[in-house]
Amino acid sequence: MKFIPYGRQDVSREDIEAVVAVLKSDYLTQGPAIESFEKAVCLEAGASHAIACSNGTAALHLACLAADLQAGDMAVTSAITFVASANCARYVGAEVRFADIDPETLTISPLSCRRILEKAQSEGRPVKVVVTVDFAGHPCDMQAFAQLKKEFGFVWIQDACHSIGATWEDSQGIRWKVGEWPSPDMTVLSFHPVKHITTGEGGMILTHDDRLAHRLRLLRTHGITRDPAEFENKSEALAADGSVNPWYYEMQQLGFNYRLTDIQAALGESQLHRLAAGIVRRREIVAAYEARLGRHPHIAFPKVADGVWHAYHLAVALIDFDSAGKSRAAVMNHLREAGIGTQVHYIPVPLMPFYAAASDSADYPSALVYYRKALSLPCFPQLTDADVARICSVLEVALA
Ligand SMILES: Cc1ncc(COP(=O)(O)O)c(C=O)c1O
Repeated sequence: MKFIPYGRQDVSREDIEAVVAVLKSDYLTQGPAIESFEKAVCLEAGASHAIACSNGTAALHLACLAADLQAGDMAVTSAITFVASANCARYVGAEVRFADIDPETLTISPLSCRRILEKAQSEGRPVKVVVTVDFAGHPCDMQAFAQLKKEFGFVWIQDACHSIGATWEDSQGIRWKVGEWPSPDMTVLSFHPVKHITTGEGGMILTHDDRLAHRLRLLRTHGITRDPAEFENKSEALAADGSVNPWYYEMQQLGFNYRLTDIQAALGESQLHRLAAGIVRRREIVAAYEARLGRHPHIAFPKVADGVWHAYHLAVALIDFDSAGKSRAAVMNHLREAGIGTQVHYIPVPLMPFYAAASDSADYPSALVYYRKALSLPCFPQLTDADVARICSVLEVALA
């Protein structure tokens, strides 16, 4: 019996051919495939600039650097997310506060975030960066965060590592793709193998801001520029006849090597062609779970806000293990023995030992309630209807 993980990549023959073509080409990194992938994602997401990075965490780190977040500054993110959404602020020495989630959609709560913003402002330490999280593929309440940004003036980093391909509708009935709406300053994607499209490891930052895009590109490659128009040290840069010295480049900021390779970019661009179809299949899978398991007395599912086209990176079930009289561990072990992988997304980040001392669990009650019930069921495009039916049957038995 084949093991069904909670998520997995889908690599086609075309993907492999695209990668092999790069392997046979002149460039394995810093070649044309990166720019081509960046342009393709820009087009797909409706963004103005795309900066490909070595992974989503590196992309978040670069976004914090480009936002000028520094030691002593304050950042806010969701209590329910992967640790990287918080760690990126710690990398630059900033403090992190955790906002609660909306109990229905599980995305970061604008109300809870407002409370943190107001408190920080009243203490004379305004929040510099807010990292919103499009949990499981559901865009957060975009207009509410745009309003908060207007009132409190923070830099808005949208962690869209789960939500490439999702869309939402504004109050005027205009539909926006994740990455298209200009209010978030930067939108961050991940191409880890469990995500919608993969490059092995990989990430990207989308922005509409020319200045931020330029800064992000510099920071991605050691803070080095090769553009003669930007050189500061003209006496080193220029020969006696005024021409640019052919070896010359300049490091102007402390940057990193956070580049993606051309091999990875070719895989990503090839995968991008199947993004929309993959989301349609993910939606069918979740609809099948909801139709069958939604009738179960101990199982519920998160709500989807009006106008949202959910990308379903994750298929989260809310299981009342207490009323079912089963422990989550026992249910997960039962499923695993039947060849079915599940996972918990996520342990609230402020409960992590690294963050626990600086957080107060009274600030995120909905995250704690959610955490008791969360179980991510398998969700990826290659799952068959028969797989889904079997997963439902085994889960029903595990809870009986
Ligand atoms: C919400 C969220 N943010 C950030 C990341 C980090 O992305 P990566 O694994 O590509 O570094 C992930 C990856 O799992 C994620 O789920």
